[in-house]
Amino acid sequence: MRQYTLKNTHGMELRVLDYGGIIASLAVPDRTGRVDDVVLGFDRLEDYERSSPYYGAIIGRFGNRIARGRFTLDGRTYTLATNDGPNHLHGGVKGFDKVVWEVSPFERQDSRGLVLRYTSPDGEEGYPGTLRTTVTYTLTEGNELIFDYEGTSDRATPVNLTQHSYFNLAGEGAGNVLGHELTLNANSFTPVDSTLIPTGEIRGVTGTPFDFRAPTAIGARIGQDEEQLRYGRGYDHNFVLDKDAGAPASTSLAARVFEPSSGRVMEVHTTEPGVQFYSGNFLDGTLRGKRGAVYSPRSGFTLETQHFPDSPNHQAFPSTVLVPGAEYRSRTVLRFRVR
Ligand code: BGC
Repeated sequence: MRQYTLKNTHGMELRVLDYGGIIASLAVPDRTGRVDDVVLGFDRLEDYERSSPYYGAIIGRFGNRIARGRFTLDGRTYTLATNDGPNHLHGGVKGFDKVVWEVSPFERQDSRGLVLRYTSPDGEEGYPGTLRTTVTYTLTEGNELIFDYEGTSDRATPVNLTQHSYFNLAGEGAGNVLGHELTLNANSFTPVDSTLIPTGEIRGVTGTPFDFRAPTAIGARIGQDEEQLRYGRGYDHNFVLDKDAGAPASTSLAARVFEPSSGRVMEVHTTEPGVQFYSGNFLDGTLRGKRGAVYSPRSGFTLETQHFPDSPNHQAFPSTVLVPGAEYRSRTVLRFRVR
């Protein structure tokens, strides 16, 4: 395994592994200039290989779940690995989080980064087509971390790449994230069944604990006795982002997170139509984190920008099918500042 370090001149530092493209640490200054690592993970590289809830990893070929690991495309039914109860999750048994990426560093005037490449062979985890993917991580002097995803395939195949970093803006290991104030630019979300597969409904957030259109603490309503929160044991849902109808493919604000004690703010901008907000409900403290940290439930959150879960089985959702000759392109920008 190889490790790469990127720094900017404002105190940000990023460590990336070729294994899974994992972001192993992300140091960000707080309002006093103190730098903390804001992502959950392990100290030792081997720990990521042993067992990890996708800490910091690239997710592919398909972010989130595909019901029963089955979908039909061009009249053919494909069977994928099922690795989450009855469903397929995050690309299967050996998804893009568990492969070794070929990494090439680059430097520009106001940024530096890494180009990660992986070619997924035809049939891998049950998916059709040879899928060539490139993921570029760029750290800018503007305190942005940019993820650019590109891909081509020689056969039609669903593709939905994302990044699975778990954040705690007070610093990893600094307790739970319930006091973080979250804003989501989403008027609706996709409710799920008890196995966390979208029912197909697009439900308005008005009057529900899923309304984050104004800044609200993650913990403010997470304990409500509500069916969707019960299914996810908290938040584990895809939010339908409000996109500019005139420019649906350009980046727009998806989320803003503010952590009051440190003053850190993270904004998420994306070209994607959805974001999975997961409040780390399934973290259970059994896997010791960095310096032995116990990551209890809700000690980190993810904001996975992506197309909607189980899209291959929902005609009404934006399509995730990549056809030969077309290019998959997706961009997400994390912007850090303090308040
Ligand atoms: C999913 C959760 C899952 C977690 C895996 C998230 O993206 O939405 O349901 O448990 O990844 O650690």
